[in-house]
Amino acid sequence: MALITGASNGIGFELAKVFARNNYDIIAVARNEGKLNAACDELRQSGGAVHAFSADLSSYEEIESLKKKVNEGEYRIDALVINAGQGLGGRFIGGTDLQKELQLIRLNVDSYVHMSKIFLPDMIKQGGGHVLMTSSVSGTAPIPFEAIYGASKAFVNSFFWAIRNELKGYGLNMTLLMPGATETNFFKNAGQSDTTVGASQITKPDEVAERAWYALMSGHEYVYGNDEAEHEGDVLNRLQSESQKAQRHRIISEPGSASKK
Ligand SMILES: NC(=O)c1ccc[n+]([C@@H]2O[C@H](COP(=O)([O-])OP(=O)(O)OC[C@H]3O[C@@H](n4cnc5c(N)ncnc54)[C@H](OP(=O)(O)O)[C@@H]3O)[C@@H](O)[C@H]2O)c1
Repeated sequence: MALITGASNGIGFELAKVFARNNYDIIAVARNEGKLNAACDELRQSGGAVHAFSADLSSYEEIESLKKKVNEGEYRIDALVINAGQGLGGRFIGGTDLQKELQLIRLNVDSYVHMSKIFLPDMIKQGGGHVLMTSSVSGTAPIPFEAIYGASKAFVNSFFWAIRNELKGYGLNMTLLMPGATETNFFKNAGQSDTTVGASQITKPDEVAERAWYALMSGHEYVYGNDEAEHEGDVLNRLQSESQKAQRHRIISEPGSASKK
């Protein structure tokens, strides 16, 4: 059984399809019940069992309820995909809303910690399994006009590498997924359609999911969503200083940058 968060759309939905095609039963998690049910109907076409568990993962209580449902159903989680996340574009002072920023941290940071804390012990007890964590190439650089988002993904990267190291020898096969700009609802929901990065979503989410699946099943420790992200993360962001990286990124993430081109 694979538990996948953010499975009703975008990268998470495509990941769920790959797992379902590869004979995993699925627990799909997202907030909007109607959309989640529609996604699950599609996933069922692969023939396996698919459970739709609606939850707002920015809520501590709803993550606890999700775990309770998994326990009550006695579902064995062989693969854990922590993927649900949101973006938020805008100027930190005078632009973005504090409540939205704190909500983003609850989802992109708190829920990653919380989900790992409560699901990994069972996986360890049962002898191991696969763990995929969706971060972003944005986790490898400061991101002006997405300051909180970039920082949240830097947290995920650091957290992932630390616990991956701690958990060596427990049978867990852990892979970090760092997509670049991907064609999903992400930028629209983040209010970034008017940015160069938001308007340049070159990669389809199914391509990202295929790369992630291959990397996870091959035991690779990390994978980018496309070659451009790989170049950015593994070359540019390793060579340049933090301020150089920030300056390079502001050109594509500044509000209105799409129309300046
Ligand atoms: N698209 C990109 O360019 C890109 C680039 C780098 C990294 N990423 C990362 O990839 C991951 C997936 O993003 P995506 O591009 O596939 O976005 P997406 O198309 O917006 O899908 C997000 C999924 O997460 C769910 N979700 C959002 N907020 C939630 C919450 N509070 N509780 C539970 N589920 C929630 C959504 O369903 P509901 O709204 O119904 O809850 C949906 O199923 C995120 O971690 C994102 O940071 C994306």
